[in-house]
Amino acid sequence: MVNLNKSVNLRPLKLDEYIGQEHIKEKLKVFIEASKKRKTSLDHILLSGPPGLGKTTLAQIIANELGVQLKITSGNILDKKGDLAGILTSLEEGDILFIDEIHRLNPSVEETLYSAMEDFQIDIILGKGKSARSIRIELKPFTLIGATTRSGLLTSPLLSRFGIILSFDYYSTKALKEIVKRTLSLMNFRIDDQSAYEIAKRSRGTPRVANKLAKRVLDYIMIKYDGQIDVDKTLQALEFLGIDEYGLNSIDRKYLSILIYQFDCKPVGINTISMAMNENKDTIEEMIEPYLLRIGMIEKTPRGRIPTQKAILHMKKYLK
Ligand code: ADE
Repeated sequence: MVNLNKSVNLRPLKLDEYIGQEHIKEKLKVFIEASKKRKTSLDHILLSGPPGLGKTTLAQIIANELGVQLKITSGNILDKKGDLAGILTSLEEGDILFIDEIHRLNPSVEETLYSAMEDFQIDIILGKGKSARSIRIELKPFTLIGATTRSGLLTSPLLSRFGIILSFDYYSTKALKEIVKRTLSLMNFRIDDQSAYEIAKRSRGTPRVANKLAKRVLDYIMIKYDGQIDVDKTLQALEFLGIDEYGLNSIDRKYLSILIYQFDCKPVGINTISMAMNENKDTIEEMIEPYLLRIGMIEKTPRGRIPTQKAILHMKKYLK
């Protein structure tokens, strides 16, 4: 019986198994080697880029390559100085603390991080009022890896404490095709180049999307057919999933049809779109619009969003 439930094991564990982001891997190899040679902890690293591109995976790989422990937390969970102090004091020499969404740290936690990053020490206040006193805690040298989808929101004191700043690019279709092939092969399925290409092309430059799509295509082919993947079945599966040749889903198309048909291609504000779609404003701004902007289907103007000719042409295919 094939175990399809081992998504954690699908993550690459070594830099050489990690596909794409060549500019990042090339630098990391040098910095990791240098840190090993010098026998000092790796400098603090900031990973920035859109969601789903493999920032957490890369942090796990770095820990693995260095042979150290990785502790994972997130900017919105870490809301008390005491919690940060607890994690920092639990780190052994050279260990890595990974803080996801680091731009969401609250100011007092962030401030504690400054001295931890710079001098490997923190000052904490014990007690209250007159009996309050500050004690200094020495930390073992560690590496902070911060990840952010919004590097513009990082304060400059925090930004300046990272010795290495790496920005992720969206993946090429070629790289995503390799990722799809790798994932399915780890799940003991064979996929031909053309089928993997059709999935990769619709994956929005994002491995998380590619892997999810590959698994759903596989579901379809296993149930409707025999599990043998070919390009015809793959295209059928993608149609069944409602994913078009640009990788748009039904929600993206609903967004476009509102701009095009309901508002006649005139500029529309985000609040109006949110009401028309019955969808949260943040979801629209963070999950739907960035990709449509990136592939040139919409433009943002001071008066609102407008669809482009490309979007109008594409959506014509869905008119009955
Ligand atoms: N799975 C998700 N992202 C990956 C990557 N960049 N390389 C290999 N496998 C992956």
